[in-house]
Amino acid sequence: MRILHIAHVVGARPNFMKIAPILAACAELPSLRSTLVHTGQHYDGAMSQLFFDQLRIPRPDVNLEVGSASHAQQTAAVLQRFEPVLLERRPDLVLVVGDVNSTLACSLAAVKLGIPVAHVEAGLRSFDRSMPEEINRLVTDAIAELLFVTEKSAIENLEREGVDPARVHFVGNVMIDTLLAHRAAAAASDVVERLGVRAGEYAVLTLHRPANVDAPAALRGILEPLSDLSRTMPIIFPVHPRTREALAVHAPLLSAGHGIRLVDPLGYLDFVRLMGQSRLVLTDSGGIQEETTILGVACVTIRENTERPVTVTNGTNRLAGTTSEGIRKTIVEVLKAPTVVVPPPPLWDGRAATRIAEILASWGRDR
Ligand code: UD1
Repeated sequence: MRILHIAHVVGARPNFMKIAPILAACAELPSLRSTLVHTGQHYDGAMSQLFFDQLRIPRPDVNLEVGSASHAQQTAAVLQRFEPVLLERRPDLVLVVGDVNSTLACSLAAVKLGIPVAHVEAGLRSFDRSMPEEINRLVTDAIAELLFVTEKSAIENLEREGVDPARVHFVGNVMIDTLLAHRAAAAASDVVERLGVRAGEYAVLTLHRPANVDAPAALRGILEPLSDLSRTMPIIFPVHPRTREALAVHAPLLSAGHGIRLVDPLGYLDFVRLMGQSRLVLTDSGGIQEETTILGVACVTIRENTERPVTVTNGTNRLAGTTSEGIRKTIVEVLKAPTVVVPPPPLWDGRAATRIAEILASWGRDR
């Protein structure tokens, strides 16, 4: 039997929940062999190791230990350090997930050596090229051989960009595979009790996009309506490392009413339970828009756009924009309206990784 050797890449926190079910599904098929490479883009225990432990991701075979730096430096470090790994281990395919700098850099290193790339979560577009993730998505999709997509908008985007439909596979959402697989374990988390809040009576906040947190005026505009909301209910804010420093100058806005309570980044199981029991989630993350859709919890997205429109049409997501007025208005609407139960997006059924592994095995046979 011909074996297809796949080098799977992870780098940053949102990659870990995506790779976990893919590695598990590939391990089921004897014609696939997996090597796991961690670029080390995220390296704190709370941003990385905790997720490996909770999601039972095997220990990486290689860690490139690139750490934090400017975009050019971080991307360059991954390129330089990944190339010798590819030369030494000679995988038949490199599989990347999501839209972080590691995704882009590893794809580029691979195709330059003639190694085909598979991109999981391909075709998503915010149409906002000031987002680093949008550039990472565009470039990765342009050079990848196999494009695995989560929603129909992605198929249309790739078609519009002239991609051969034979390269595109609509498989569903691996992040939701992980969510469904860990819902029961998350239910056992005591995070809600530990934080001393009551189910349905608090909000959860995450913010880390450079456009939202790097400029003090932009961050203030976002925090003001949230500070108002905190007079009605406590807001729990697990803080991404890049956001913590930026918050220091806004201390008065954080301490109004019940307060916006800053806590350290949470593990996966705690965070899923915290979201699941909340009244609403406020976020600028991509993945959280998808998770709240399946959890049936209202999501207010603090961005002008989303590359995941199915979470608005078939989910609980609302785009609030980034102005104080927009955010305030959307919060009021969400708190007034009952959360409407809609059918989940097509193929978000917990089997996306199985579909991916089967397509990879068949692609390997046909080569
Ligand atoms: C990255 C991704 C973003 C993703 C996010 C999720 C890119 C371009 N961005 O953004 O798409 O939504 O991860 O978390 O790849 N830091 C630590 N410890 C860590 C990791 C980061 O302290 O373990 C700090 C560093 O000070 C660093 C900053 O966070 O400067 C930003 O980290 P970086 O990986 O460059 O980008 P993120 O903002 O995390």
